[in-house]
Amino acid sequence: MTPAIQVYGLRRRYGTFDAVRDVSFDVERGELFALLGTNGAGKTSTLELVEGLDRPTAGTVRVLGHDPVRDRAQVRPRTGVMLQEGGFPPDLTPAEALRMWAGTLPARAARPVAETLDLVDLTHRAAVRIRQLSGGERRRLDLAAAVIGRPDLLILDEPTTGLDPQSRHDTWRLLRRLLTDGVTILLSTHYLQEAQELADRVAILHGGRVVATGSVAEVVAGFPARIAFDLPPGLTIDALPDVVGAYSEHDGRVTVHTTGLQEALTTLLGWAAAQDIALNGLDARSASLDEAFLSIAGGTS
Ligand SMILES: Nc1ncnc2c1ncn2[C@@H]1O[C@H](COP(=O)(O)OP(=O)(O)OP(=O)(O)O)[C@@H](O)[C@H]1O
Ligand SMILES: [Mg+2]
Repeated sequence: MTPAIQVYGLRRRYGTFDAVRDVSFDVERGELFALLGTNGAGKTSTLELVEGLDRPTAGTVRVLGHDPVRDRAQVRPRTGVMLQEGGFPPDLTPAEALRMWAGTLPARAARPVAETLDLVDLTHRAAVRIRQLSGGERRRLDLAAAVIGRPDLLILDEPTTGLDPQSRHDTWRLLRRLLTDGVTILLSTHYLQEAQELADRVAILHGGRVVATGSVAEVVAGFPARIAFDLPPGLTIDALPDVVGAYSEHDGRVTVHTTGLQEALTTLLGWAAAQDIALNGLDARSASLDEAFLSIAGGTS
């Protein structure tokens, strides 16, 4: 089977500015792929090309095997989209808005409005005017519109921005359930925990380019792990054994960032055992997605 989404050599130019430069990635069927990146990294510009809202300046996009602009009639009914700036007419109620929206979809496909409102926990707000909904409730209504047509593919631009923690967890549960049903999901997010919880694979965009891609574990493996411990009494860091990475000391706490975590730990523990030295407060861990992201966003990678 072809991947659900194939993006190759994508470029998008606004005037003289390239917001997307040579972006390539595939999204396999049934997986959740997350686009990460700072404000202006090019996430929305990329998603809009996948949604078929514009033609790329260069490069190709295939969605479910089709060109999403040229073959809109084949792609659109199988795709659910949530734009970064969603929104319905404020004088409608959520139930009316969804009924209207469902009317634009093939009749056989649509979920009942009541069931869809329940999926996003808006049943109690079904008959309130949209203008009276909170920001998070509107976001959930946008998500309801994306899922009401039982799409094979969901493209969600920051689906949980503005949601409170409980609603965010509820949304994650819904997305996991859709994945179990075989739906493919491409989303953008600023929440690294969201990527960690949900994504099979991620791509980190920076300045319109993919600067890291793979599973979260693969992405963080490219960044140094960290070992920390209390400086043993009576010693300076010069007395510590050589490892890959440099020691630094602050307020009696020693830190070393290393690309060879296992070797460095083995050396350090062997040295401490041989000298009968206690490494108090010893802590060793791989880089986190946060650290990898901040390092990329800070331009140090
Ligand atoms: N219609 C447009 N005309 C000109 N420049 C644009 C247009 N839309 C976006 N840009 C610029 O393109 C770059 C990428 O924007 P984009 O909206 O894709 O970023 P993003 O990663 O989605 O950011 P955010 O996290 O803030 O949503 C930004 O520098 C933005 O200012
Ligand atoms: Mg955006």
